[in-house]
Amino acid sequence: MRLEGRVAVVTGAASGIGRSIACRFHAEGAHVVAVDLDEAGLTKLAGKLDGIETIVANLSVKEQVEPIFDRQRVDILCNNAGVLDKLTPLCEVDDELWRKVMSVNVDGPFFASRAAIPKMIENGGGSIVNTCSAASLSGGRAGASYTTSKHALLGMTRSIAWYYGNQGIRCNAMAPGSIQTKMQMRDVPHAQGIERYSAYFQTIPPAGRAMDVADVALFLASEESRYVNGSVIPVDGGWLAY
Ligand SMILES: NC(=O)c1ccc[n+]([C@@H]2O[C@H](COP(=O)([O-])OP(=O)(O)OC[C@H]3O[C@@H](n4cnc5c(N)ncnc54)[C@H](O)[C@@H]3O)[C@@H](O)[C@H]2O)c1
Repeated sequence: MRLEGRVAVVTGAASGIGRSIACRFHAEGAHVVAVDLDEAGLTKLAGKLDGIETIVANLSVKEQVEPIFDRQRVDILCNNAGVLDKLTPLCEVDDELWRKVMSVNVDGPFFASRAAIPKMIENGGGSIVNTCSAASLSGGRAGASYTTSKHALLGMTRSIAWYYGNQGIRCNAMAPGSIQTKMQMRDVPHAQGIERYSAYFQTIPPAGRAMDVADVALFLASEESRYVNGSVIPVDGGWLAY
C-alpha cells in the first residue's frame, strides 16, 4: 500500500477525476477527506469507500475552505476541483464568468494550499498535486478565462515548490488533455469558440479516462516521486506533442 496512514484531502471528489483519485488513494491505504459542493455525489462516494470523510464546501469561499484543515495532519492535498468556461473568447467573457472560473480554479487552490502547507511542515512535509490542464501549457485548449486560470495554477505550483521545497513540501501538477467526465458535457460551448476549435478537433487524441489521471496523481502523491518537485506531467495521450 503506497499511501498507508496518509491523510489525503481531495477536492472535487464527487465526480470525474477527483472521484477516481479518491478511489485510487483509498485503495492504497490513505484516509481520504473528500471535498465537494455536490453533497449527493459525496454521499454516493462514501457508500462506496469505507471510512472516508466527506465535507460539503464551496472552495471559492475562504471561510468554507480553511476549516477543512483544522485537523492534526494533512499529508496530501489534491487541488482538483475546477470549472470550464464554454470555450469563450476573451472579449465575450462577462465579469460573472471570469470571477466564477478564477474563484474556483485559482482562489480555491490558493485558500487550500495556504491552510495546508503549515500543517504539512509541522508534520515533516507533504505533497500537493494540482490538477492543471493542457490549457496550462497552451493557448488553444480552452477559452480565455479557463486558460488564464490554469496558467495561474501552474505558476502557483512552481512557486510553492520553489519556496517550500526545502521544508519537505513537494508541489506538482498534472495537465490532463481531453478526459471523459461530466465537465465536458455540462455546458454548451460558445459559438465563436466552437467555430475556432472545430478545425482542430481531429488533432485531439481519443478521450482518456479519469483513472488515467488518477494513476499519475498517485505517483505524484507517493514516495515514488520523492525527487519530483515543481513539475508538470501532461496526461493527454500526446495532444500537447502535436
Ligand atoms: N475533463 C477534462 O477533459 C479535463 C481536462 C483538463 C483538466 N481538467 C481538470 O480536472 C479537474 C476535474 O475535472 P473533471 O473533468 O473531473 O470535472 P467534473 O465536473 O466531473 O468534476 C469537478 C468537480 O468539482 C466540483 N466543484 C466545482 N466547483 C466547485 C466549488 N466551487 N467547490 C467545490 N467543488 C466544486 C464539482 O461539483 C465536481 O464534482 C478540473 O480542475 C478540470 O479543470 C479536466
